[in-house]
Amino acid sequence: MVGLIHKILFNMLESTAEPEVALEIRRRAEVPADKDFHINEVYDDEEWRRLFAATIDVLNITQEQAEEVYAEHFIKDGQQRWPVWFTMAKTAREFLTRQPKIHNGFATSQQDPVLRSAIDDKFHVEERDHELVVHYQSPNKLCGLYKSLAKEVLNLYQEDAQVDEACCMKQGAPECEIHVRWS
Ligand code: HEM
Repeated sequence: MVGLIHKILFNMLESTAEPEVALEIRRRAEVPADKDFHINEVYDDEEWRRLFAATIDVLNITQEQAEEVYAEHFIKDGQQRWPVWFTMAKTAREFLTRQPKIHNGFATSQQDPVLRSAIDDKFHVEERDHELVVHYQSPNKLCGLYKSLAKEVLNLYQEDAQVDEACCMKQGAPECEIHVRWS
């Protein structure tokens, strides 16, 4: 997982909780207190999963709640860090269609082909009339985060669309299939 994701998690904790909370999360996730995460470097997926699980535990919230709070911070951070992605897209559909390309941009900076394809292959978007069908496959099983982020993007563009999941890796499906449907 690219360090950007960790960085946003720690920024979120810094702005919402006492410093001891982040330290406790690191302790439970077995991540050294002084370990720094750099936005363009790739870190172990397993370590990220431990950090996210420890966050849910320590904050005593559900995974869904954690994904919602994280998505809110993620979009705010993204708007400041990469405003061009937001100005380029005139609609939520345009933004969500481009999302896999944005992710693959992070992959191209990776020299290691295995790490590169681990980022590259997570998302595929199928375009239909009034609908996007997102195929998502990842050991991190963050389809809930996808749905929260998609809703944040829809809010940002003041659009109304239904976000549903037709099948999910957590229920044993080979991939998650998320439908974003505009009425
Ligand atoms: C400026 C906009 C965005 C940037 C720069 C960005 C960047 C990233 C990066 C670098 C990762 C880590 C990738 C990896 O290590 O595999 C990531 C993960 C993720 N992003 Fe985005 N993202 C953006 C917008 C979005 C949006 C709008 C969505 C959904 C609608 C989304 C959904 C996700 C999900 C679900 C993951 C976790 C993937 C996994 O590890 O399974 N992102 N994003």
